[in-house]
Amino acid sequence: MNEYNPEVLISEEEIQIRLNDLAMAINKDYAGEELTVICVLKGAFMFCSDLIKLIDLPIKLEFMDLSSYGDAMTSSGEVKINLDIESTIKGRNVLVVEDIIDSGLTLNSLMKTLMFRKPKDISVATLLFKPARASLDYKIDYLGFEVDDKFVVGYGLDYAGRYRELPYIGTLNAGN
Ligand code: IMP
Ligand code: MG
Repeated sequence: MNEYNPEVLISEEEIQIRLNDLAMAINKDYAGEELTVICVLKGAFMFCSDLIKLIDLPIKLEFMDLSSYGDAMTSSGEVKINLDIESTIKGRNVLVVEDIIDSGLTLNSLMKTLMFRKPKDISVATLLFKPARASLDYKIDYLGFEVDDKFVVGYGLDYAGRYRELPYIGTLNAGN
């Protein structure tokens, strides 16, 4: 049990309904093809595992772990790769699965790195998108939900390493 209960912003049921829509679109767009799915750790683990259960295509699942250099001095958009994928994406269809796009720096840098490896096609699925601050060089192909510029947790997303296990997306209030 959680000591604190973040307020529900998007319920478990709403998430699952939306995931069905996203999977239907992916199944249609890639019909007859194979897909390399790249789950961006840690935040996307729950979204990715629920999503791929609904994808009806041959999948190779890969994981990446990234961290941003993250201070104002180096906010050039460069991210550090802590864990890289194991198989080649050259000539393959790639679906990048992200938890949330906030400033867009992580995604911009990741996409640049992946494009350099010459995939056949690359698309992006993100559970959440905060349009308020985002400056994106790439389009989001499969979007779960747009959210306001507030800090959200749950369903994979954390605050200081906590709340990832919640089955819903919630907001933290002062005092949490
Ligand atoms: P960006 O590079 O600014 O787009 O940051 C994206 C990353 O920041 C996400 O993958 C998350 O790890 C983290 N992040 C941004 N906003 C939130 C939030 O509201 N809750 C939890 N993590 C967040
Ligand atoms: Mg992330």
